[in-house]
Amino acid sequence: MHKNLTILGIETSCDETAVALVRSDRTIVSQRVLSQLKDHLPYGGVVPEIAARAHVDHLDGLIKEVMDEAALTYDDIDAIAATSGPGLIGGVMVGLMTAKGLSLATGKPFLGINHIEAHALSPRLSPGVEFPYLLLLVSGGHCQIVWVNHVGAYQLLGHTIDDAVGEAFDKVAKLLGLPYPGGPALEKLARQSKSVSSPRFHLPLPLCGKPGADFSFAGLKTAARLLIPELQSEEDRAEFARTFHHTISAIFADRLKNALKMAPEAPKRLVVAGGVAANQYLRDDLQAFCDANNMEFYAPPMWLCTDNAAMIAWAALERFAHGQTDELDLAARPRWPLVEMTGFAQDAA
Ligand code: KG4
Ligand code: ZN
Repeated sequence: MHKNLTILGIETSCDETAVALVRSDRTIVSQRVLSQLKDHLPYGGVVPEIAARAHVDHLDGLIKEVMDEAALTYDDIDAIAATSGPGLIGGVMVGLMTAKGLSLATGKPFLGINHIEAHALSPRLSPGVEFPYLLLLVSGGHCQIVWVNHVGAYQLLGHTIDDAVGEAFDKVAKLLGLPYPGGPALEKLARQSKSVSSPRFHLPLPLCGKPGADFSFAGLKTAARLLIPELQSEEDRAEFARTFHHTISAIFADRLKNALKMAPEAPKRLVVAGGVAANQYLRDDLQAFCDANNMEFYAPPMWLCTDNAAMIAWAALERFAHGQTDELDLAARPRWPLVEMTGFAQDAA
C-alpha cells in the first residue's frame, strides 16, 4: 500500500453497531462499538428485528461521533465500506444502505465487505502478519480452518458439520444458567475452578482421530445436557467449565494437526480470529500447539476478536489497495461463504 489511505467502516451484521476510521498505515483513527447486549438479554439470544431497529437508532450518531473525534471531513477519507454479508439481513441492510447513501452524497467510492473475510484479515491490523497463513476462524456463526493465500484467495480445509464453536459455548452456558453471550461467561466460571489436573468430567471429542479437518460440536452439547444436572456444587460447575475448555482445545489441536498436512504448503504461521478467539485458555493452548509444531502464532487483541468496524475498514483497505470498489446496487447477502470470495493477481500486491 503506497499512499496512506483512510476508510470509514461500518459493521451491523449482528448485535454490535460499530463504526471505525482506519488508515492503511494501521492507525485506528477513531472507533465506536455499541453493544446491544442489554436489548437481547431477556431473550437469551439475538433477536433479529430488535437488532435491526437498534442499528437504525444508533448508526448515524456513531458515525458523527467517529468523524468528530477524528476531526475529519468526508473530503479527508478515501472510501466508505460496510459489511454486506453474511449476517442478520435486516441489520446488514441498515449498514449497507447507510454506506451507500454516504457514498452517493459524498462521491466517495463504496465497498461491501464480507464479515468473515474481515475476521480472517483482522490479524493483519497488527504489523508482521504476512500471507500465506493457516487461519482458525472461530465465532458464533463460523468454525473453519482456512488456508489464506492472499486477499480474496482462500482454501477451505475444514468446517463444522453442525454447530459453530461459539454456538457450543453459548448453548452449554445456557444449560448452566449463564447469560448470553456464553463464551465469556463460561471462561469466567472456568477461572473459578480450583482443580487444575485430572478433571473429573469427561466430554466426547467428536471427529477426533478421524481424517480431515472438519469439526462437530453437537455431541458435546448433548453430553453437557446429560452431565450438567449431576453437578452438585459451584466447584463442580467451575470444573465442568474448565473441562469444556480442555475439550475444545483438544478438538482444535486434533483438527489443526490434520489441516497442517492438507495445506498446499507447510504452514509457517497460525492465525486465530473471531469472537471465540477472545478466550485466553484457547489462546494459550493454541500457542502451545504452535510451539510444538514450530509455527508462529498470531491472535488479534481481544477487542478485535469480537465484532467491530475496524476489521471492516481494514478488509476494505486491503481490497481498495488492489483497486476494488463496488457498485451501489450491490446486494446484502445473508449467506456468503469465504470460499466464494474472488481474489486478485498476486503480483498486484
Ligand atoms: O465474532 P463474533 O463477535 O460474532 C460472530 O460473527 O459470530 O462471535 C460471537 C461469539 C459468541 O458465540 C460468543 O459466545 C463467543 O464469540 N465469544 C467467546 C468469548 N467471547 C466471545 N467464546 C469463548 N470465550 C470468550 N471469551
Ligand atoms: Zn463476527
